[in-house]
Amino acid sequence: MLQYQSCGIFALLCVSLISFTPSCDGGNILVFPVDGSHWINMKVLLEELHARGHNLTVIRASTRYGVTALKHSISHFKITKFFLSLLYNVHLIWTQCAAQIFDDKSLIETLLDSKYDLVLTDPAIAPGVLLARYLKLPVVLNVRWIPSGEGHLAIAPTPASYIPAPGSGLTDNMTFLQRTKNLFFYGIILFQQRFIVGPHYDVVCQKYFEGECDIISVLQEADIWLFRSDFVFDFPRPTMPNIVYIGGFQCSPWTFKNPPLTVRCQACGCPHANSAAGALDRFTSVVKELQHTGL
Ligand SMILES: *[C@@H]1O[C@H](CO)[C@@H](O)[C@H](O)[C@H]1NC(C)=O
Ligand SMILES: *[C@@H]1O[C@H](CO)[C@@H](O)[C@H](O)[C@H]1NC(C)=O
Repeated sequence: MLQYQSCGIFALLCVSLISFTPSCDGGNILVFPVDGSHWINMKVLLEELHARGHNLTVIRASTRYGVTALKHSISHFKITKFFLSLLYNVHLIWTQCAAQIFDDKSLIETLLDSKYDLVLTDPAIAPGVLLARYLKLPVVLNVRWIPSGEGHLAIAPTPASYIPAPGSGLTDNMTFLQRTKNLFFYGIILFQQRFIVGPHYDVVCQKYFEGECDIISVLQEADIWLFRSDFVFDFPRPTMPNIVYIGGFQCSPWTFKNPPLTVRCQACGCPHANSAAGALDRFTSVVKELQHTGL
C-alpha cells in the first residue's frame, strides 16, 4: 500500500515538474565575431541558432580589414617581426574599440535595454569578452585560439613535458632535447602574452573594471568553451568540464549529390579505387570507434 502511495506521489511530482517548468523558447544573443577566416566558423553557428528562432545581434567593424598578400619571399625573422607587429596592432585597435563602446553611454544603454541572455564570441581577438564583462553577461566562446596561443593554455593544466606547443611540430613523446625546444616555444607564447598582446587588455581592465584583471583572468570567466578541435587529431591533454569539443561542426552531412569519398572512389572505376576506399573505410571506422569510446 505504502509502495503504491509513494509511486503516486512520485508520478504527481513528475507531472507537476513537467507542467510547471517554463517552455523552452528562443534566446537573445549578442555576437562579437572575429573577421576573416574565423567568421566562417561563426557563421555556421549563427545560421543554426537563427534557424532555431534565437534573436541575434552581431557587432562588426564598419570596414573589413584584411592582411595584404606578401609578394616577395622574405626571411623567417622578417615574417616573425611582421607577425608580432600585426598582433600588436590588431589587439590595440580592438581593445580601443571596446573602450570606445564603453565610453558611448547611449550605446551601452541600448545594449543593456536589449536584455541579452548571453554573449557569443570568438576570443582570438577578445573585445567580445571585455564587453561581456562590462555588461555582466554570461559568455559562450567559439574558440580554438586565444590572443596568445591555443585555448587550452588559459584554462587547463598544460604540462610542457608531453603537450607540444603550437608550431613546434613535436609530438607527445619527446626526448630531452625536444622538451627543451618545446619550452622555447612556450617561451614565445608567454612573451607574446606578457609584452605584445596582454598590455592592451591591461589598459582596459585598469580603466573600466574594478579589481585586478587581465586577458587570461577575463577569459577564464567564460562559461562555456565550444572548442573547434577534437581528440581524433589532437594529442591527449588535460581538459575541463566546461569545454565542449565541436571539431568538424562546419562539415555538412553527406547527401547523394555530394557522397563520401569512398562512394566517389568506387564510382570512378580507377584501378586502386577499391584498396583506397577500403583504407578510407577502415580509417573512418577507427575514428568512429574513438569517438564512441569518448577519447
Ligand atoms: C526577438 O525579437 C523580436 C522583435 O524584436 C521580439 O518580438 C521577440 O520577443 C524577441 N525574442 C526573444 C527570444 O528575445
Ligand atoms: C617514445 O619514443 C621512443 C623513441 O622514439 C620509443 O622508444 C618509445 O616507445 C615511445 N613511447 C611511447 C609511449 O610511444
